Amino acid sequence: MKPFIRIGALISGTGTNLQAIIDSFNSGKIQGKVIFVGSDNAQAKGLTRAETIGIPTFVVDYNRIIQEYKNYSEQAQLPNDFVLEDAFAKQSIYPKSTPREKIEFFLKTRAIAECNLLKHMNSYSYDLIVLAGFMRKLSPYFIDHINSASAIPRIMNIHPALLPAFPGTDGYGDTYRYGCKIAGCTVHFVDYGEDSGPIIAQRAFPILETDTLDSVKTKGLQLEWELYAECIRLFSENRIQLVQKTHEKDRKSVIII
Ligand code: GAR
Repeated sequence: MKPFIRIGALISGTGTNLQAIIDSFNSGKIQGKVIFVGSDNAQAKGLTRAETIGIPTFVVDYNRIIQEYKNYSEQAQLPNDFVLEDAFAKQSIYPKSTPREKIEFFLKTRAIAECNLLKHMNSYSYDLIVLAGFMRKLSPYFIDHINSASAIPRIMNIHPALLPAFPGTDGYGDTYRYGCKIAGCTVHFVDYGEDSGPIIAQRAFPILETDTLDSVKTKGLQLEWELYAECIRLFSENRIQLVQKTHEKDRKSVIII
């Protein structure tokens, strides 16, 4: 019998990747279910997709949290278990040359928002968190909470570019505007950097003379839907392993067994 996987999804927008994951459960391609969908955006269309089929949802209003912190930082309630120096030492989203104030602002506002996410998520027992168009960076505070009890990372992300090229918020746009002849998408585990975690799998396709940014996005999304479901299936079957390459300083990478 195939193992059964319980997934929590975080989204910010349309949720077509979420839909593809739900479809792959419904079709029996993967045994499991999406047990909650969380968002930073109350207007995210993906929330309605989930609600109409009875998947519980919640929203954490990042914008409000960030604005409140800007206005009343001295009254901010940081989580009791948040250790600034620990998060500061671990994060690799910002280069260490970035003004300390900026990094602290990021780490503190995220810890408040992420603590709220975790409060909602704690009522569920999940095996894997998938970021399906979740447009917020995660800080070490959240990542450590999710990964603490597991040898293998438990947060997966799909990114609309062939990482490590074009991290950030507009992968297809950046690829297209650069004049690349090949575009693609990447599924990776989330680490302390921006779109920098171990790559699980990638799909590529040619950008033709006749392509527009819209057609590139459409082609890319279709590949994303297949690729994400495939990676979740591999995870559910315990077929993803992290390995250290030859050198101790080398990045950890993924092999599929
Ligand atoms: C997808 O293209 C996904 O790769 C991208 O957002 C889109 C979400 O679409 N994610 C990122 O850019 C993360 N940095 P969807 O809401 O229809 O799944």
